[in-house]
Amino acid sequence: MSNLSFYIHIPYCVRRCGYCDFNTYTPAELSISSGLNQISRSYVDLVIQEIGFAQSIAGNRSISTIFFGGGTPTLMEPVDLGRIISALATKFDLLQDSEITIEANPDSVSLEKLIALRELGINRISFGMQSAVPHVLTALDRTHDPENVMRAVHWAKESGFEEISCDLIYGAPGESMSDWEYSLDAALSLPLTHISAYALIVEEGTKLGKQVQRGEVTMPDDDETADKYLLADDKFESAGLHWYEISNWAKSGSESRHNMGYWTGVDWWGAGPGAHSHLAGRRFWNVKHPTAYADRIIATGDPKQSEELLDKTQKWNEELMLRIRLAKGVDHKAFTSAQLGTLGGYLKDGHLIESAWLENRIVLSRSGRLLADRIIREIAM
Ligand SMILES: C[S@@+](CC[C@H](N)C(=O)[O-])C[C@H]1O[C@@H](n2cnc3c(N)ncnc32)[C@H](O)[C@@H]1O
Ligand code: SF4
Repeated sequence: MSNLSFYIHIPYCVRRCGYCDFNTYTPAELSISSGLNQISRSYVDLVIQEIGFAQSIAGNRSISTIFFGGGTPTLMEPVDLGRIISALATKFDLLQDSEITIEANPDSVSLEKLIALRELGINRISFGMQSAVPHVLTALDRTHDPENVMRAVHWAKESGFEEISCDLIYGAPGESMSDWEYSLDAALSLPLTHISAYALIVEEGTKLGKQVQRGEVTMPDDDETADKYLLADDKFESAGLHWYEISNWAKSGSESRHNMGYWTGVDWWGAGPGAHSHLAGRRFWNVKHPTAYADRIIATGDPKQSEELLDKTQKWNEELMLRIRLAKGVDHKAFTSAQLGTLGGYLKDGHLIESAWLENRIVLSRSGRLLADRIIREIAM
């Protein structure tokens, strides 16, 4: 049987950033008066129960990647994260060379914590840096100042992490091109092997979404956002970080194996509130709220809210939409003749390349990457 990947969702943050609509909760939203470290143990007990349930459904599979995401996984006590890794190793066959990643908020780590995480076998860390410019971090409603990121990344290196990534966001209200350039240079001055750079998405219902709706802040236009993408791509490539997915750049061999798994349609189990899973064309997802999740785990052991079965065409189509975003593109034989007809114009205009050296795979060109969402919409069947 094929390997299984595990996503472990940690649905807590100290404070919600104004742009974020992830399934995460602050102590105030959950009426928790004690610190989040106090609920680390009880939350992890629930996740461990779900891991037992996962084994009863998925069988005895080998695990090649684990990803602690959130929310803010570094708010949990390392000893509790260690209990999750032990549970996975007990219930499944955790491969020796597995990639174990944790997302971290620069404000929620210390040298001691990073050493403890490394000792658990966590071998990859991704920091939410977002920007190195104070007024941009304020516009994004972040709690950290730029120095925290610099310090946290150096601590990670000192703790023995070899794979270190940072997330950047471009296009925040008030961010100039030189602000963005400053953030890129700051990120590239750090010992990183991987960078993700996302255009800021204004999500409905968030604090930022309401500010935009009321006309209190103005979002940059598409041309400026495209220029920022191209500037990032130039700088990353010159620094030896090559693009391997539209929003992700890495040194050779430092690509995220876990995320590559999502983009190429492997089986994964997502544990925790609202987490999604994918097993052999069946998708299912858990109840969203942490309280509902706890109730379901305690009552039945099964936190699933709903599921859908994808037929072969749907499954392949979904995969195609993700694969076309990868630098290695898609074998042209995978497209239907109708899709190839649609792609013809983009090939002619140079937004797509049929690459002879990549065995006739269809690959986005640099200009095509800027149009990827439109191209994907047009080939979706
Ligand atoms: C779970 S967070 C990373 C870890 C930690 N919670 C933090 O933010 O420091 C995942 C990443 O998603 C990105 N993100 C979240 N909401 C976004 C939005 N509305 N637009 C663009 N990127 C977003 C941010 O770059 C963030 O670092
Ligand atoms: S810290 Fe990360 S997950 Fe939490 S609200 Fe901010 S961006 Fe979202």
